[in-house]
Amino acid sequence: MTGGGRAALRAQLTRRKPLATLREEAGPHHGGLRRALGALDLTALGIGAIIGAGIFVMTGVGAREAGPGLIVSFILAGVACAMAALCYAEFAAMIPVAGSAYSYSYATMGELVGWIIGWDLVLEYAVGAAAVAVGWSGYFRVILEGMGIHLPPAIALAPGAAPGALVNLPALLIVLLISAVLYVGIRESARLNSIIVGIKLCAVAIVILVGMFFIRPHNWRPFAPFGWSGISKGAAYIFFAYIGFDAVSTAAEEVIEPGRDLPRGILWSLLVCTILYIAVAAVLTGMVPFGEIDKNAPLASAFVVRGLNFIGGVVSMGAVMGLTSVLLVLLLGQSRIFYAISRDGLLPRAFSRVHPRFLTPYIPTVITGAAVGIAAALLPIQEIAELTNIGTLFAFVLVCLSVWILRYIAPDQQRPFRTPFVPLAPIAGALSCLYLMGSLPWVTWIRFFVWMAIGLVIYFSYGRYHSRVDAAASSAPAAAE
Ligand code: ALA
Repeated sequence: MTGGGRAALRAQLTRRKPLATLREEAGPHHGGLRRALGALDLTALGIGAIIGAGIFVMTGVGAREAGPGLIVSFILAGVACAMAALCYAEFAAMIPVAGSAYSYSYATMGELVGWIIGWDLVLEYAVGAAAVAVGWSGYFRVILEGMGIHLPPAIALAPGAAPGALVNLPALLIVLLISAVLYVGIRESARLNSIIVGIKLCAVAIVILVGMFFIRPHNWRPFAPFGWSGISKGAAYIFFAYIGFDAVSTAAEEVIEPGRDLPRGILWSLLVCTILYIAVAAVLTGMVPFGEIDKNAPLASAFVVRGLNFIGGVVSMGAVMGLTSVLLVLLLGQSRIFYAISRDGLLPRAFSRVHPRFLTPYIPTVITGAAVGIAAALLPIQEIAELTNIGTLFAFVLVCLSVWILRYIAPDQQRPFRTPFVPLAPIAGALSCLYLMGSLPWVTWIRFFVWMAIGLVIYFSYGRYHSRVDAAASSAPAAAE
């Protein structure tokens, strides 16, 4: 490559998408998505995405690592998420566009970092959705078994999970069903989501309010059987439980008053869930000795082992509902991110075509549904959840740093919500997320690197040549806007 060629490549990789362009694209006259959501819808959307496989399934894995110290694991992961949430809130209010962290990094750190984050977010949304669908299928089977219906392993479990297992059919079908709902439209989706969220919150409230009468305080001793390292590992696993508050930001272009309501939706949903999680962790580890906590359906089993089968059944129903709404939001988020990336030309144009009647990005909805369905049908939950965690933590690190950077390069930018204590909060957020990433197994790191390498190949063979961000406009510094 010649010197001029190298300079041109460097200019492209680092060119930033102007904030004004981002905002204009999301504006009303751009043939965009339908604006129908308010603060309450967004909080419900956030809770819908947050409470799911993390608390209903991964808590069991976390408890085995951390013991009763799981309570501290939840606080640790909650603090990291709170810092990231404050940063997300600033961005979401300032750049209320569908691409979430992808769009924020494109505007602040340039095209290459933007693409890397966009590709990374597939781990959070699509891979995360696959993990949740597998968790859903597990609880669904428990309910069916309670009714005397036993699905044969050939159609109920992924290959390798049991002898004769071939395909996790319930996981595949739930993904296809939710994708069909999303195809039809955001307003209907939000309404369905609000109903499910109510049911799910009741299930969690039952766990806390009934379970607290069955606590045996001696189960809390020793509090941290594997010390701080067990608590950190537990936090890295149950981090999955917090994923989703940021999904609120992917609905930005469908919000009536984004500057005011996006930060509220993000912060309220995270706050509600953090309080509930800490209470659930305390109750669960108080009810059952940590070594006996079930790994597949820990909350329902805690009641069953104490002879409360009926409550266990109610909790299982709530779990199935809860996991359904998580799937809805994650699949919604993924299609919106593809929509935003394609609008910039880094993915084929078909991904940003809006359905003439339903006003939804129907092509990414269909593609995401098919890919997630296949993954859910064939893969085990824990490993995909770990991959989701590392990808999401990485996105949080970059969002935290971007908030700080943008305060320098665009100090006069209008910010309807300002992250407090900059740069302390973004630095603390980035460091705590890096710490949690460091607590994940090395094999997860390898998968993460492989995934990111595939993303780079796609960018350098397609995205780079099709990017639509105007080179002339983007060479002007963001501060000038
Ligand atoms: N936080 C979501 C869950 O736990 C992803 O299922």
